[in-house]
Amino acid sequence: MVSHVAVIGLGVMGGALARNLARKGYHVVIYNRTHSKAENFLRHYGHEGKFTRASTLNDVLCKLPTTKIVFLMLSAGKAIDIVSDELVAEAHKRLEGDQLSIIDGGNSFYKDTMERCKRYDEKGVEFIGLGVSGGKEGALLGPSLMFGGSERGWEWTHEVLEKIAAKDFHGKPCVTRLGPNAAGHFVKMVHNGIEYAIMGMIAEIFNLLRATIGDRGLGISSDSLLEHPDLGGFLLELMRHVVRKRELGSGHPLVLDKIKDIAGHKGTGLWTCQSALELGCPIPSIQAAFEERAMSAQYAVRSVYSDAMKPSGLKTTVSAEGLMNRVYGALSLAIRQAFSQGLILIRVASKKYEWDIDVQQCTRVWEGGCIIRMPLLREFETRPKETLDKKTKGLIPAKEDPDEPPTADEITREVWWAFSPEFRKIAFDKKRHHQLQELIHTFVDAGIPCHVLSSTLNYVTQMCHERMETIPYIQAMRDGFGGHGFERIDLDGRYNLEWTIHAEE
Ligand SMILES: NC(=O)c1ccc[n+]([C@@H]2O[C@H](COP(=O)([O-])OP(=O)(O)OC[C@H]3O[C@@H](n4cnc5c(N)ncnc54)[C@H](OP(=O)(O)O)[C@@H]3O)[C@@H](O)[C@H]2O)c1
Repeated sequence: MVSHVAVIGLGVMGGALARNLARKGYHVVIYNRTHSKAENFLRHYGHEGKFTRASTLNDVLCKLPTTKIVFLMLSAGKAIDIVSDELVAEAHKRLEGDQLSIIDGGNSFYKDTMERCKRYDEKGVEFIGLGVSGGKEGALLGPSLMFGGSERGWEWTHEVLEKIAAKDFHGKPCVTRLGPNAAGHFVKMVHNGIEYAIMGMIAEIFNLLRATIGDRGLGISSDSLLEHPDLGGFLLELMRHVVRKRELGSGHPLVLDKIKDIAGHKGTGLWTCQSALELGCPIPSIQAAFEERAMSAQYAVRSVYSDAMKPSGLKTTVSAEGLMNRVYGALSLAIRQAFSQGLILIRVASKKYEWDIDVQQCTRVWEGGCIIRMPLLREFETRPKETLDKKTKGLIPAKEDPDEPPTADEITREVWWAFSPEFRKIAFDKKRHHQLQELIHTFVDAGIPCHVLSSTLNYVTQMCHERMETIPYIQAMRDGFGGHGFERIDLDGRYNLEWTIHAEE
C-alpha cells in the first residue's frame, strides 16, 4: 500500500494535484524550484492534509519510502529532462532495490515521452507519460487521466491514480493504462485537438445566434443546447455562463465584448495537426479550429482587408425557431465528427507506434473530469452487434501478406464500424447533414465566417462521395507538369501522357 507520494512543481496544476492527493489521505512531499512558492502553498493549504516540504530533489527522494512515486507537474520541454535526469542520477547514487516511478503529468510532446521512456527504462526507472485533463478544478476534484507506460509502471502506480481520478458514468475511475510509453500523452494531445474543434464550433454558433436573434436570446439558446438529448456536456455548460456574464456598471455590457480577439494556444493543438499531417490522417475540423486561432494573431492583415472590403452586413430571413432546429441537428453531427476524426487519428498512430490503444477506453476515461466530457460519450460504450461485412461496406479485404500492416484508410474504416449504431445514427444522419448544410447557408447569408463547421461539412460531404471527382484533375495536372504518372480505373499499372494540346494538332 502506497502511503507517500511526491509532487514536483506547485504551479496551477501541481498545487491542485498535491491537494487532491492529500485529501485522499496520502502524505505528500512537495518541492518547487522557486522555494517561496512551496512556502506559500503550505501557508494556504497546509491544513488540508499531510505535507512535507523538500529542499532539494535529493531530499524529495530521501523523504519517500522504498516505493517512490514522483509526479512532475512542470512546464513541458527541458524542465522535464532537467528534473528527471537529476532524480534518476540521485536515485542511482544511493538507493538500491527501490522502485522509482516518475510520472510526467504535463502536456509533453509524445515523441519526447517516447524517448524519455526508453532512456529511463535502461536505468530501471519507470517513466510514465500521464495525460491530465480537467484544468485546475479537475486536478483538485478529480481529473481524467490518460496513462502511458509499462505494465510494471501501471502496477506500481495505479492504486494512487485510481484514487485521485474522476469517475466515469458507472462510478469507475477515469484512468486506465492506454498503452506503453507515449500512448497517454498522444491521447491527451488529441483530446485537446478535439477540444479545439468543439470550442470552435460552439463559438461559431453563438456568434451567429447573437448576430441573428440578438443578445436576449443567448441565455435561452445556451440552456436548450445544454439540455438537448444529443448535446450537453461541460463546454456547453461553460458557455451558458459565458453568454450571461456581464460587467458591473453602466449598461452592463457582456464581458465577451471586452475580451481582445486574440486566441492563445500552448502546443497541443499544433502538435495534433502536425502529427495528423505526418500520419496522413485527415482531421479537418481540428485543423480549422487551429487555423482560426492562428488567424486571430493576424490583426494587421484583418485591418487591411476590412478597410478594403467592409463586410456588407447581409441579413438572414430564417426564424429563430428554424435556426435553432438547424443548430441542434448540425452541432450534434459536427461534434461527433470531431470525436471520430480524433479517435481515428489515435488508432492510426497506435498502429504505427504499436501502442494497441483501445479507443473505447479513451472515451471511457473522458466521461468524467475532462474538458470534453459530455453525455454522448455513452454512445461509445456499446460495440456494434454486426461484424464488418460486405453489405455495410465495412469489410476489410484479406491481405495477400497477412503481416503487412493495414493502411491508414483501412484503419479509418475499421474504427468507423467499431462505433456503436447509436453514434453512427447521428454522425451519419442524412437529415442532420442537411441541417448542417442549411446552417452554413445561414452563415453565408449573414456574412459570418464559420471555419470549423464549414470544414466539418466539407469533410462529411466529401466522404459521402465514394469517388473524389477533383482528384483526377489534380493527377492529370501533376502528370502534365511533372510527369508524375497516374493510375487508371480500368487498367493495371502507372501511366504517363503528353497533356499539352499544340495548335497544329
Ligand atoms: N493549466 C492547465 O489548465 C493545464 C491543464 C492540463 C495540463 N496542463 C499541463 O500541466 C503542466 C503544468 O502546467 P501549469 O499550468 O501548472 O504550469 P505553471 O503554473 O506555469 O507551473 C509550472 C511549474 O513548472 C516549474 N518549472 C518550470 N521550469 C522549470 C525548470 N526548468 N526546473 C524546475 N521547475 C520548473 C515552475 O517552477 P517555478 O515556480 O520555479 O517557476 C512551476 O512550478 C504543463 O505541461 C501544462 O501544459 C495544464
